[in-house]
Amino acid sequence: MITIRPARNDDNAELLALETICPEGTDLVLQFDRSPDYFFRSKFYDKFECYVAEEDGKIVGTVAATISHFNVGAEPLNGIYIRDLRVHPEFRRRNIGSDLVQHAMIEEQNADLAYALVMEGNTPSSELFQSLGYDRVRDFIFWTVPIYKRRTTMDGTIREMTAEDQPAVADLMNDYYQDHDFYEGETEDKFANRMALLRKCGLRNMLVAESERRIVACAGLWDYSSILRPSILRLTVKLRILSSVLSFLSLFTYTPKLPAVGELFKLSYVIDFANAKGSLSQVENLIKHCLDLARSYGSHFLCFPLDASDPRRKLISKHHAIPVNYHLYGKGLKRNVTWHSSAVSYADPLDF
Ligand SMILES: CC(C)(COP(=O)(O)OP(=O)(O)OC[C@H]1O[C@@H](n2cnc3c(N)ncnc32)[C@H](O)[C@@H]1OP(=O)(O)O)[C@@H](O)C(=O)NCCC(=O)NCCS
Repeated sequence: MITIRPARNDDNAELLALETICPEGTDLVLQFDRSPDYFFRSKFYDKFECYVAEEDGKIVGTVAATISHFNVGAEPLNGIYIRDLRVHPEFRRRNIGSDLVQHAMIEEQNADLAYALVMEGNTPSSELFQSLGYDRVRDFIFWTVPIYKRRTTMDGTIREMTAEDQPAVADLMNDYYQDHDFYEGETEDKFANRMALLRKCGLRNMLVAESERRIVACAGLWDYSSILRPSILRLTVKLRILSSVLSFLSLFTYTPKLPAVGELFKLSYVIDFANAKGSLSQVENLIKHCLDLARSYGSHFLCFPLDASDPRRKLISKHHAIPVNYHLYGKGLKRNVTWHSSAVSYADPLDF
């Protein structure tokens, strides 16, 4: 008989092992190595629960859930974010995944909706959420740039954010994301606390770009390798073609290299990426700086997670970015939620 219980610290080794036999995806297949501490990321949340499904004392599935606060169509809501859903391959299609998701409704009495992020082509997961009544709300693209060469020299208009800059940066974030669903809005204190927390788990830089002594763009650079290291087990047809073209071109010129199948790689993210209207040239510079910094930490890829319609995608695409599409699934819990089909942002960058 399958039972579900909260995970304990001594489940660490079993959960790390389960993760290695549950890669994600169908066309593009990704595997994650979270060693040595499966629970490392969870330690940075206020509210976090991880559950395991067991049969005869053996862990056969897991899921985690956190609570986030954000706006949908200007209405403040509480959402349960469902993440890290895994079922042992020999135990699939026995409803364990669905039971885990339904079990993960932490603080359901205070929650308005539940949501999850599913990679495009991950049919089992997409079908599972749809079978539980989740709607596909919006697409979110992880623009993933392979890092292969230095792009710029340091530009004097880009520098590290200081404590004095924090109110201006919080305002910039609010201006950029105010119409986005899943964005809560920054206050000076909240922003400062979030920065302090993220610095403990890999945020290396918070950069600002200035024009006429005014901050017009910002971007945080998060080295994600302290949380996990991914590897690609299968490439989509498109990526296989790209990989062959790049290997051929590398005979003649510098080209980005995709990691070999099964090779662990280091990934960094750009978070808190905002800019004022009319500052695209500063954004362009900021992107190059981020790429150079990520290169200096030994990252193989720098990922810009953006709403599918974000205009900055055109600037990022110039750097051979590979778009990895994720579907955001959501479901109202107390009542139906009206999705406004406006752009989405991320309530909490830890949610990646
Ligand atoms: C996704 C995953 C958790 C599903 O677990 P599971 O226990 O097999 O799922 P369930 O048995 O609860 O399936 C519920 C429904 O989802 C759909 N579904 C599940 N697996 C499916 C598959 N391989 N193909 C098509 N639909 C599928 C079906 O509608 C299924 O209902 P049915 O069996 O009555 O037809 C599991 O496949 C897994 O661990 N995959 C690898 C990791 C991963 O992708 N995690 C999700 C990250 S977002």
